[in-house]
Amino acid sequence: PAVEFELEAPFSIEYHDSVGNTNDRARELAGEGETDVAVLANEQTGGRGRLDREWTAPAGGVWVSVVTRPAITPAQAPLYTLAASVATATAAREAGVDARIKWPNDVVVPAGDDGDYRKLAGILTEMEGQTDRVDWLVPGIGVNANLDADALPEGATSVRAEAGDVDRRRFVQRLLEGFDRYRRDLEAVVPAWRELALTIGQRVRVDRPAGEIVGEAIDVTESGALVVETDDERVTIPAGDCEHLRPV
Ligand code: BTN
Repeated sequence: PAVEFELEAPFSIEYHDSVGNTNDRARELAGEGETDVAVLANEQTGGRGRLDREWTAPAGGVWVSVVTRPAITPAQAPLYTLAASVATATAAREAGVDARIKWPNDVVVPAGDDGDYRKLAGILTEMEGQTDRVDWLVPGIGVNANLDADALPEGATSVRAEAGDVDRRRFVQRLLEGFDRYRRDLEAVVPAWRELALTIGQRVRVDRPAGEIVGEAIDVTESGALVVETDDERVTIPAGDCEHLRPV
């Protein structure tokens, strides 16, 4: 496939026509001490989603994992994932897609008036470190780019289906530039995230290990947790606790 990946991105690019999955390759590089490398693939044969789910990743998508070694604590890590979702949604909007963010970090396209949506992109962040310091952190970003919607799981959509094919080279460049900008200015992440959020103001049901919460999503905190107002209390849900969120 004619994808030329000699980008002037703020990251060096390791391109694979086909790979098991880019997160595993990025973790390998991180283990070897590498940093600021974006592993990019046209196709993944063993894509992984959050919570051990499978991730369908045929040729034509944008499957990218970024090796970073940020000077942050593990508690700040969710901000990096939000930064990746803001950068992804922004790149998709530039490609003509009405992309919004569903908390914590799904990039979706609204479908209908009842808060429903189709999923355009997802992010799986993996990291290693100690309690007070992150050693490496790898956000893995999967965007259904130039794919037919019928090659995707139910409830998913693609840039192709929404706005027509995109120049993936340009898309990845914009995505990585955006991510780089936000990781250098973490205070800008949550305000930018709020601007793109589909979830805020919605009545939602959140499944978490400690039980389900139903209420109105009113905001995200500085560390990216969702604040939900139920009939009798206000609950703050860290991103890592979200097994499932749906509008109700
Ligand atoms: C999710 O929504 O569950 C997260 C999906 C993350 C998919 C990306 S594609 C690049 C990287 N490689 C993977 O196998 N997963 C992530």
